[in-house]
Amino acid sequence: MIDTYHKIIEKRGYVELPVPGDIDFKSEIFRLKKEKNAVILGHYYIIPELQDLSDFLGDSLALAQAAQSTQADIILFVGVHFMAETAKILNPGKKVLVPDMKAGCSLADSTPGPDFERFVKQHPDHVVISYINCSAEVKALSDVIVTSSNAKKIVDSFPKDQKIIFAPDKNLGNYLNSVTGRRMLLWDGACMVHEKYSLEKILDLKKEHPDAELISHPECEKPILLVSDFIGSTTTLLNYVSVSQAIKFIVATESGILHQMKQKCPDKIFLPAPSIDATCGCNDCSFMKLNTLKKLYLALLYEQPEILMEEEMIVKAKKPILRMLELSK
Ligand code: 13P
Ligand code: SF4
Repeated sequence: MIDTYHKIIEKRGYVELPVPGDIDFKSEIFRLKKEKNAVILGHYYIIPELQDLSDFLGDSLALAQAAQSTQADIILFVGVHFMAETAKILNPGKKVLVPDMKAGCSLADSTPGPDFERFVKQHPDHVVISYINCSAEVKALSDVIVTSSNAKKIVDSFPKDQKIIFAPDKNLGNYLNSVTGRRMLLWDGACMVHEKYSLEKILDLKKEHPDAELISHPECEKPILLVSDFIGSTTTLLNYVSVSQAIKFIVATESGILHQMKQKCPDKIFLPAPSIDATCGCNDCSFMKLNTLKKLYLALLYEQPEILMEEEMIVKAKKPILRMLELSK
């Protein structure tokens, strides 16, 4: 049976088998979760319905910490592949499931392991700092991992004259270079969501709403960051909207975060930053949006797709993640 599941997952990304038409996915998910001692970890970019259903919701750093400390037997990770892989690396004794194996990440995909290995070998005097949005293979080639919420602190922890490779996000790397005064060597990767914002349309929207603050994720391109009123990781942006005096915000990050912002500040107004092509829904991460209620149910029912990793890779990739967690304290 497992072989049949694997064939379906390879083709579709998840085990799609017929389910009774009258099934109540939410109550079935709660039942299966209890029966199997499972926990649902969700990222801020997933659809609101799944955010509300998650036992723990957070940014990539908080989710890694939650995965490391959970007592559950099964982790159902509702986000993208590299996040679930990180959960498995940190807590390999747990069964880590994902709703859809095809939920990847353009940043992680922009750094194939063998290419990165060659690049690292060409610069033996450089320390390698990698953003968590990368594969286990790339993590294993890194000295330390960062997320957008601890990147500056970790880069600052190295001596000023230390040569550094930063991968895979060139936009976050450029931003870090500007706030730390470094000249880190950058890998040429980018996020397909955050590089699609239109400066022209954002400036028009700012003119239309002069009282609005533009708040941006550091994965955005430099021209957007230069006109931003505030820059931060998803959690930092979420905290900022409640402490800021402003009542209106133009939000330049994935649209899923707006759900939490509206819940936190129901009296404030949140406008998604416009992207180059208004018809393409570019502020949505198509990978994050592959997660659906039905797929969560199927994953818990069949305990598939499961993140499986070689022990050797877990050991190699764990070291730089643990170093990050230590440095984030
Ligand atoms: P956070 O670290 O802010 O959760 O960002 C994750 C991500 O994928 C941004 O695109
Ligand atoms: Fe990757 Fe961008 Fe999606 Fe984040 S928003 S998961 S960086 S593709």
